[in-house]
Amino acid sequence: MHPSSRRLSLLTFRDSCGIILASNSEAILHEPIHIELRRVSKEYKFGGLHQKVLSNVDLIINRGEFVSIIGPSGSGKTTLAHILGGLTTPTDGELVVDGQKMGRARDRRLSQYRNKRVGFVFQNFGLLPQYTALENAALPLILAKMRPRDRMEIAAHALHAVGLGKRMDSYGSQLSGGERQRVAIARALVNKPDIIIADEPTGSLDSRQGDEVADMLLGIHAQYRTTLILVTHNPDIAARAPRTLHLLDGKMTEDAYHAVR
Ligand SMILES: Nc1ncnc2c1ncn2[C@@H]1O[C@H](COP(=O)(O)OP(=O)(O)OP(=O)(O)O)[C@@H](O)[C@H]1O
Ligand SMILES: [Mg+2]
Repeated sequence: MHPSSRRLSLLTFRDSCGIILASNSEAILHEPIHIELRRVSKEYKFGGLHQKVLSNVDLIINRGEFVSIIGPSGSGKTTLAHILGGLTTPTDGELVVDGQKMGRARDRRLSQYRNKRVGFVFQNFGLLPQYTALENAALPLILAKMRPRDRMEIAAHALHAVGLGKRMDSYGSQLSGGERQRVAIARALVNKPDIIIADEPTGSLDSRQGDEVADMLLGIHAQYRTTLILVTHNPDIAARAPRTLHLLDGKMTEDAYHAVR
């Protein structure tokens, strides 16, 4: 069944950050198109040569979907994820969010989308070493110019939500890889994103910590109905998503719905 017309029993609930996520009793949801790529290509100029790293990608990701992206190294997974999150703009084609075309770099609509609606999680965690877990988790709110007391409260809630309530004053060097990635997930959550884009979030972790981080991301997706776009080299983690995009040499060679393992 296509996810845009699922019959869902929705509950009203509130998470520890105070996000009201859904309301009403049973309802037929016709979820709006959420993120769309129209004939998107990306080219880099390198030493006078043009390298096409994405070619004519058409894609629709509906609100609340969980999509994994797999493909060999260099196939364009990170480029695609960055375009979907507004970190990079396409050379040709368009990113359309909820029916609105996003502009090129420095477009205000694009930066608002990227900063307010998307939470990013990267392979190397991307934490600032001179800041504590609490300060790292609060970073997006500092950028959003939120009052210090409010942002620390929200960051503390997010750290509690990822099981790090007791490590808020620790610096990155004092945390394990899995804990660092959980701080990065907390940081991705503080803006209450409706899309999480995780680029090989388990790539630097051993299998136990990787599984914990994957479980956490899937749990957030399941609980909050956050759209989850997960780039991974791990076929077992990719198979946990009901839909997988396959990239090869910058082309989307397969876009398949499948039974979840
Ligand atoms: N800023 C850039 N300038 C020039 N070339 C780039 C740039 N970013 C990526 N590329 C090239 O684009 C191609 C796709 O890169 P991308 O990082 O999207 O691949 P990937 O599938 O994520 O690979 P990996 O699995 O190794 O992370 C590669 O050949 C890469 O060298
Ligand atoms: Mg990559």
